[in-house]
Amino acid sequence: MDDRFNTIAGWGLFGGIVALGLSSLSGHYFLADKKHRPEKMGYAIEGVVEEAAAGAEAELPLPNLLAAGDVAAGEAIFAKCKACHTPNQGGANGIGPNLYGIVGKPVGKHAAGFAYSADLAGHGGTWDFATLDQWLKNPKAFAAGTKMSFAGLPKGQDRANVILYLNSLGSNLPLPAAEAAPAADAPADAAASEAAPDAAASEAAPAA
Ligand code: HEC
Repeated sequence: MDDRFNTIAGWGLFGGIVALGLSSLSGHYFLADKKHRPEKMGYAIEGVVEEAAAGAEAELPLPNLLAAGDVAAGEAIFAKCKACHTPNQGGANGIGPNLYGIVGKPVGKHAAGFAYSADLAGHGGTWDFATLDQWLKNPKAFAAGTKMSFAGLPKGQDRANVILYLNSLGSNLPLPAAEAAPAADAPADAAASEAAPDAAASEAAPAA
C-alpha cells in the first residue's frame, strides 16, 4: 500500500514540475514576441511628430509652439541668458534681474533691488506668454531704451521653449489653448487660392 502511494505521489510531483517548466518556457516565448511590437510602433509615432513640428515651424502661432515645446530644450537655450540672469529662487541679480517666477509678473518691476531702465520700468503690462515672446524676439523693439543688450531669439520654437522653461520656475501658469487652424496665420491669399479651386471642383462634380 505504502509503496503504491509513494509511486502515485511521485508521478504527481513529476507532472507538476513538467507543467511548471512548460509554462515558464511558453512564457519566455510569448514575452520575446511581445517585446518587439511596441518598440517599433513607438519609433514610428515619434518620427511623425518630429517631422510635423520641424516642417510647420514658421507658420505656427505661439500657443501651438508652446504646446509642441520642451522645457528641457528651453533650459538648454537659457545657457545664452545665464551670463546675465539667475533662474533660481532667491538668486542674485546680475547684469540682469533674477528671473525666478517672472511669468505673470509686472514688466520691469519683478526683482527687488534691480535698477531697471526707465523704458522697461515704465512699459506697463505683465509678462505673459505673448509679451515674453515679443520681448525675446527683439528686446529693443519692445522697449527702445532697454539695458538688456541681447539681440533676441529669431526662432519661434526657441522662444517658446525658453518661455516654457521660465514658466517652470515657480510660475506654472496654464498654457494658452493651441489654435485648431494654424493656416489662418499663414499668408491668407495663398491659403485661400489653394483651397478655393479644390472646394469648387468637389462641389461642381456632383452638380455636373
Ligand atoms: C547681456 C546680458 C543679458 C542677456 C544675455 C540676457 N538678458 Fe535678459 N535682461 C538683461 C537686463 C540688463 C535686463 C533689464 C532690462 C532693462 O531694465 O531694460 C533684462 C531683463 C529681462 C527680462 C525682464 C525681467 C523683469 O523683471 O521684467 C526678462 C524676462 C529677460 N531679461 C529674459 C532673458 C532671457 C530669457 C534671456 C536669454 C534668452 C536673456 N534675458 C538674456 C540682461 C540680459
